[in-house]
Amino acid sequence: MAKNENLHKAKDAKKDEFYTQYEDIQNELNHYEQHFRGKTVLCNCDDPFESNFCKFFLRNFNYLGLKRLICTSYGTSPVVGQQLSLFDDENEPVARGHGYVMDIREVPMANGRGVSDEDIDALLKSKKRGVKKLKGDGDFRSEECIEYLKQADIVVTNPPFSLFREYVAQLVAYQKDFLIIGNVNAITYKEIFPLIKDNKLWLGASIHSGDRKFYVPDDYPLRAAGCGVDKDGRKYIRVKGVRWFTNLDYAIRHEKLVLYKKYYGNEDEYPRYANYDAINVNRERAAARRGKLLYRYLYDRIVIRRKVQTTV
Ligand SMILES: C[S@@+](CC[C@H](N)C(=O)[O-])C[C@H]1O[C@@H](n2cnc3c(N)ncnc32)[C@H](O)[C@@H]1O
Repeated sequence: MAKNENLHKAKDAKKDEFYTQYEDIQNELNHYEQHFRGKTVLCNCDDPFESNFCKFFLRNFNYLGLKRLICTSYGTSPVVGQQLSLFDDENEPVARGHGYVMDIREVPMANGRGVSDEDIDALLKSKKRGVKKLKGDGDFRSEECIEYLKQADIVVTNPPFSLFREYVAQLVAYQKDFLIIGNVNAITYKEIFPLIKDNKLWLGASIHSGDRKFYVPDDYPLRAAGCGVDKDGRKYIRVKGVRWFTNLDYAIRHEKLVLYKKYYGNEDEYPRYANYDAINVNRERAAARRGKLLYRYLYDRIVIRRKVQTTV
């Protein structure tokens, strides 16, 4: 690869270094437990040392009854280079620019009751079972990462937002189940909206509005409002419009929606898209169980004019 291209790649990747909070992962995953038993989970934008996705699935590997967990990291991840001390083997120093993989089929528990942080540390450092170097940079589009994708049942991660369209297209092409984080604006992308319309993708259960806190690398400039440093000295930023995108089913999607208003007679409130046979419903005040039902109402149903007509 030309030097310049490398530089651009690193620069672009830096904009994508936002680390998801453990509790956001936990809150969403609570809705899908039934999907995971006996499955191979792939987190393919996830530095095993940094990512809370890896941590979540390591901690819950036995509880969820996973068959296998694969996490691959990208070469420009600033974290991987800081983990030299975690590798006992001096002949195999951690290299920036390389991707790494953690591929495990069991998570031993020292105390036999639950997976502790010490169990996870031991696993990550283990020469036999721990983190190994990939041949390339760990790009999710690379041949070796696609091989892992083929072996996976469910992909769960927060992918680089700058590559969101490509990322989803690859999941769809390989017919994978997925649960990923993106920006709500993605629903209007020409590659994404048809998937929503055809009921092949929908928004997840737990994040409906507001912003979310993401940790960022130490050298990240904190310019915007809502940025800060937490009590442990970790830098974070707050991002608006964060949503989960999935094709895994969950219970709330099947709850009956209480409708209280008709479209006909109120057409002015719901402008038509110029380039799509659909109306836009920005807000709705559903009478009951507001948040969840409303959310489903907005994005799952009423944006499609054909479906609106069935409710009037
Ligand atoms: C938004 S961050 C999320 C990191 C992690 N999944 C989490 O949620 O904490 C996206 C990650 O994707 C990595 N990345 C960027 N480009 C990538 C690519 N082409 N292939 C794989 N990973 C990539 C970045 O290094 C970054 O760590």
